[in-house]
Amino acid sequence: MVKKIILAYSGGLDTSVAVNILKKEYGYEVYCMTADLGNLPDSQDIVKRGLEAGAVEVQLVDAKKEFLEQYAFPALKANAMYQNKYPLATALARPLIAKMLIEKAKEVGASAVAHGCTGKGNDQVRFDISLQTLKPDIDIIATGRENNMTREEVIDYAKDNQIPLPPIKSSPYSTDENIWGRSIECGILEDPWEAPPEEIYEWTTPLSNTPAESEIITIEFSQGIPIKLNGTISDPIEIVNTLNTIAGKHGIGRIDMVEDRIVGIKSREIYESPAASVLIEAHNALESLTLTREQRDMKAIIDQEYAKMVYDGHWFSRFHADIKSLIDSSQKFVNGTVRLQLWHGNAIVNGIESTESLYDPKLATYSEDDEFDQSIAKGFIAIWGQPLKTQAKAQKHVDDKNINDIS
Ligand code: ARG
Repeated sequence: MVKKIILAYSGGLDTSVAVNILKKEYGYEVYCMTADLGNLPDSQDIVKRGLEAGAVEVQLVDAKKEFLEQYAFPALKANAMYQNKYPLATALARPLIAKMLIEKAKEVGASAVAHGCTGKGNDQVRFDISLQTLKPDIDIIATGRENNMTREEVIDYAKDNQIPLPPIKSSPYSTDENIWGRSIECGILEDPWEAPPEEIYEWTTPLSNTPAESEIITIEFSQGIPIKLNGTISDPIEIVNTLNTIAGKHGIGRIDMVEDRIVGIKSREIYESPAASVLIEAHNALESLTLTREQRDMKAIIDQEYAKMVYDGHWFSRFHADIKSLIDSSQKFVNGTVRLQLWHGNAIVNGIESTESLYDPKLATYSEDDEFDQSIAKGFIAIWGQPLKTQAKAQKHVDDKNINDIS
């Protein structure tokens, strides 16, 4: 009986070589699965290359809408940024690709799936955990991890086995991209002291070249989800694509960080995420208007846990379901519009409105319209400050002392 395997196929050199290895050395019939998450400029070439490399089928699935609606937008509700900086584009895509691989495996009766990840990155962890959680008896082959070939060896293998070389941008960088963002690593970036060379950026204009005039945009949210850009664009893919273009033009969304990988390595990473950066900024602003202090404080903790959960590859976990229910509940009244000024790398919120706003101008104003009863403040402070007065009296810890001298 013929053994079948589903390979997460990018169309690049590594996964093309993987097709051949899985076929010749492991004896599999190879089905390639390529998810279009907004990162495929030459999709027809991908199908052709996969078939030439020896696959029996190359299936290209447009999963952009599902990716935004089921992965990126839920993460936006949690303002999800790993270590407060990275909007998780690569990390969010992995559970969706894993799910697609397992669906395909069930459809064609494959006993195994494969991906091209190396043995030292985060993506192998995310793929393997997701795959095993979705189908515990699935065999997983990580070709990059098991063969551990250098770039040169991969090229030689391709030549020896008549695998057509894809148009190689002779780039020292490893990149990954989808509609939520672009990740760049390796090469000179491995030295955290080196400034990133301009050539690595593809979505964002350098600050030296951004437009002199700023641009005003509006984003309308319903229950924490963007539903309209500039009052006219309402298709989710179009909202995010348009934001990537206009915010990118103003140099917004460049991220340069040293991050802590799941496998215990610190690594220097560069990201470009114009749309995600603007949306998270706007969403945060709308929460400031529509959530109470207690909701915001608790949510800030959960938001961080959420980002870590995504980064760690725990998408298909009960923990995710638990924190998701709190986040979803918190978004019930996160409705309204945020106005931002895009300028020289900044997305500056300069207006927020909501029909469910907790901002009460009659309470906030210092003008004659003021309805806040200042006379009750004195009694409130007496009770609020009572514990401090009691402690100072009993323990005399602030008698004649500067707080910094207290031991
Ligand atoms: N460090 C990022 C993450 O773990 C990005 C990984 C990028 N992958 C790549 N092949 N360049 O999500």
